[in-house]
Amino acid sequence: MTGFQREGRALACDGVALEPIAAAHGTPLYVYSSAAIAARYRAIDGAFAGYPHAIHYALKANSTLAIARLLRDLGSNADANSGGEIDVALRAGFTPGQIVFTGVGKTNDELARAIDLGVRSINVESEGEIARVDALSRQRGVRTTIAVRINPDVDARTHPHISTGLKTNKFGIPLGDVPALCARTRDRANVEIVGLHAHVGSQITSLEPLQHAATALVDLARALAAAGTSIRHLDIGGGLGVSYDGSPVPDAQDYANAVLPILRQAGLSIVLEPGRHVIAPAGALLTRVIDVKPAGDDRLFVIMDAGMTELIRPMMYNAFHRIEPVVRSDAPENSCDVVGPLCESSDTLGRNRMLPRPEVGQLYAVLDAGAYGSVMASNYNRRLLPAEVLVEAGAARVIRRRQTLEDVLALEA
Ligand code: LLP
Repeated sequence: MTGFQREGRALACDGVALEPIAAAHGTPLYVYSSAAIAARYRAIDGAFAGYPHAIHYALKANSTLAIARLLRDLGSNADANSGGEIDVALRAGFTPGQIVFTGVGKTNDELARAIDLGVRSINVESEGEIARVDALSRQRGVRTTIAVRINPDVDARTHPHISTGLKTNKFGIPLGDVPALCARTRDRANVEIVGLHAHVGSQITSLEPLQHAATALVDLARALAAAGTSIRHLDIGGGLGVSYDGSPVPDAQDYANAVLPILRQAGLSIVLEPGRHVIAPAGALLTRVIDVKPAGDDRLFVIMDAGMTELIRPMMYNAFHRIEPVVRSDAPENSCDVVGPLCESSDTLGRNRMLPRPEVGQLYAVLDAGAYGSVMASNYNRRLLPAEVLVEAGAARVIRRRQTLEDVLALEA
């Protein structure tokens, strides 16, 4: 087992106690387990081992350089969703040929950069985008490899804000429009369709929507081949969820067992873009209690030094994250609303949690915060981005220092 476990009363990360890490580096603080990241990456890679595949880790989930480098060293490729993520991928040592460039709105500058670099594929989301890639490639005298993102109109049964495969979502090209679009694209001299792409949502915990999307990709690849467009890969996106509350969810092997029999029928290599499944359980947000006060009924407000600025998921998606005292206490339990220090009522980490009566100064861990935690942090209320620490080989190493007000004000006139 890797990641966050108790050793006696105290929560530790791969055997390294968290209380001393927080004492040394301050709170709020993101802590990651290198071993858990590796184990989770290898679980996905192993599940698909019998079939030609490439994992392109979705940098959007967490792109701190040391984490991107760790995944590169494990053999991962990268999925970049912006020019910034492309440059971070390069700094982390990924080659252009290891990068797929995804995203619903890519500017001409971003496209030109990806074309000049020669990324593995630009995953296009509209005919207009294909026309822009074609024109920019013509100016440069190159032929650019693209994958067409389809919108299969699949309900991923996840939170509406992170569902992307319904026809009412802004993503991709309606399935029915793709054959004609591919036929027209064949006449363009400076783009080559090498793949089809689908990503129907995130935090998906039922496999049917993923199977449905895989079937749509396979059927489409066959229809295109019959019409003269042969592609090389099917990009099945990311989306595989994790269990935030301990309830059973499909793992990487279940996922592979569900989609591989479908994908095999096309005989094409596959690209995967997992983000959350790799990194969410490998990270925790450490935070200390600033204040405790009655909530008007029998609950308590527990005011933490972390809130929506460090983990926006609870307020943005009504997401549940386990919140635990780092050192277990014997105090009687009380129902608590665990909230942040910001000037917003929605600044909440968890409501109605039964916790041993919290004390000022006590350290808590918000678990499964490795994905979409630090990358979605903000400076609201002039708060400073926390430091990040990676636990590796029994030691905690700072991989991003805490931001200072000087860092922030350096940008201002
Ligand atoms: N590929 C594409 C094209 C994507 O849009 C995404 C995520 C991924 C891959 C990776 O998906 P994952 O395996 O992580 O589910 N901030 C939200 C999640 C947004 C996901 C956006 N796209 C959250 O905190 O739940």
